[in-house]
Amino acid sequence: MVPLKRRKVLSSGAGSTGTTGSTGNTGNTGNTGSGHEVTFPSKFPQVVLFLLERRMGASRKAFLSRLGRGKGFQVEETFSERVTHVICENNSGDEVRRWLESEVRGQGRTPAHLLDVSWFTESMRAGRPVEILDGHKLQEQQIEEEEVVVVSVPVYACQRRTTLDNHNAVLTDALSLLAEKAELSDEEGRGVAFRRAAAVLKALPEPVTDMKQLRGLPCLGGHSLRVIKDILENGASSEVEATKNSERFKALKVLTGIFGVGVKTAERWIRDGILSLQQLQDSGQTLNRAQQAGLQHYEDLNQPVTKEEADAIAAVVEEALASVLPGARMNLIGGFRRGKLTGHDVDFLITHPEEGREVGLMPKVVSWLETQGFLLYQKTTRNSYLEAKDGPARPASNMDRFERCFSIFKLSEEVKGEGLRPWRAVRVDLVVSPISQFAFALLGWTGSKLFERELRRWAGHEKNMSLSSHALFDNKQSRYLRASSEEEIFAHLGLEYVPPSERNA
Ligand code: CTP
Ligand code: MN
Ligand code: MN
Repeated sequence: MVPLKRRKVLSSGAGSTGTTGSTGNTGNTGNTGSGHEVTFPSKFPQVVLFLLERRMGASRKAFLSRLGRGKGFQVEETFSERVTHVICENNSGDEVRRWLESEVRGQGRTPAHLLDVSWFTESMRAGRPVEILDGHKLQEQQIEEEEVVVVSVPVYACQRRTTLDNHNAVLTDALSLLAEKAELSDEEGRGVAFRRAAAVLKALPEPVTDMKQLRGLPCLGGHSLRVIKDILENGASSEVEATKNSERFKALKVLTGIFGVGVKTAERWIRDGILSLQQLQDSGQTLNRAQQAGLQHYEDLNQPVTKEEADAIAAVVEEALASVLPGARMNLIGGFRRGKLTGHDVDFLITHPEEGREVGLMPKVVSWLETQGFLLYQKTTRNSYLEAKDGPARPASNMDRFERCFSIFKLSEEVKGEGLRPWRAVRVDLVVSPISQFAFALLGWTGSKLFERELRRWAGHEKNMSLSSHALFDNKQSRYLRASSEEEIFAHLGLEYVPPSERNA
């Protein structure tokens, strides 16, 4: 590898081709330092970026390239010897090295820095190249070929079958905790990276005991690999342990554990010195209706819901439907449909086989439940999705467009001991969908969250389609692709069908 200092000399004065890349022929390493004029104003002459399209996708590469240039970075369209920093997504160091070797055909030198996209995004945020930390570097893997046990894991979680049988729970718990920390710190990208890494480990057929087993696996960035290595070598990750002990993380967990409290609210309270439920209660903060209910039922709602409880609630919802609209159908969705034995809530999807009959159903169901005394809290939002008005399904905005109801159920329970309450509070989500959108709703609400995210990413990046919980739009043909079953949607997407029990990514 060429040290950065030498790069500086080579690249100063050699102008970036800016946008077209027409002169940066792949494999042509002869034109460096030949004194071209600087044609693109760069704020950082020592830094020449190249974004690897492999696994990043063409559209994301184009987007990030524009972003980089807008911030004054030189971004090369094609790889050449001028490049000092190679930015990659979901590639391991040795994969990129192999790719580079084939590009420069053995004669060129590999650039100084092979970096994860996290370095790029942090630099964009900072408006300058940030210091390269260990976590930014792609993992180096010196391998002896004959030792390699090849486990092939497809890149997208929706191409994989992930059952609840997780052989790497210690590792995935650690990575999930770091994902949670990132999500609670407004670092969504980093959160997703940890979730993807955890999902790859969940899909492995055996426990990981040696770093060698991870060779060639996708989505394992330097940071995740470091955490895994730490655990394999020392039994625990120092970063995970530090996070668990961090007052801020603990407070964020407790406060966002209140139904109705998001990260923003929790952060505001923490700034006001509120770190616990007691301090919140003593503070006299104004709470909205959801938060009041959340605080009141805090313990119940943080107690996992069992499958038995889910079934009991299903029976109640069935009874409500039978009473207000006979013929309406109901499906258990979310984690319980994937076969989980416990959940943080119970999710139901309701429809009617005759299009249009579902209109106005939610208020009737809610009112029946309320009259019968089953609801401790509810908030209903209306279906605002209109295909004609809204145009193609937009992946990012598919969250709140159904007629849906967030509620807290009062579930009667067998009294198991003296002095115990005969009921407990359980979070229940109800969604109503017209039959024409039912398959999309079913697929979109079964989860897991990462599986859903990966489905939408697959659709967008690999198929130029937009998938939401309402519809699938083919951007090439400019038309909606209809489906009346999940199987048909997978087929439209060119994916092998994955049953709910194998969507536990
Ligand atoms: N979902 C959604 N919009 C939301 C919340 C959830 O589309 N505002 C979808 C998620 O993508 C997920 C499903 O609804 O696929 C269920 O979400 P949730 O109940 O949060 O997760 P579960 O997978 O059911 O996990 P748990 O067992 O903890 O409830
Ligand atoms: Mn759920
Ligand atoms: Mn839910």
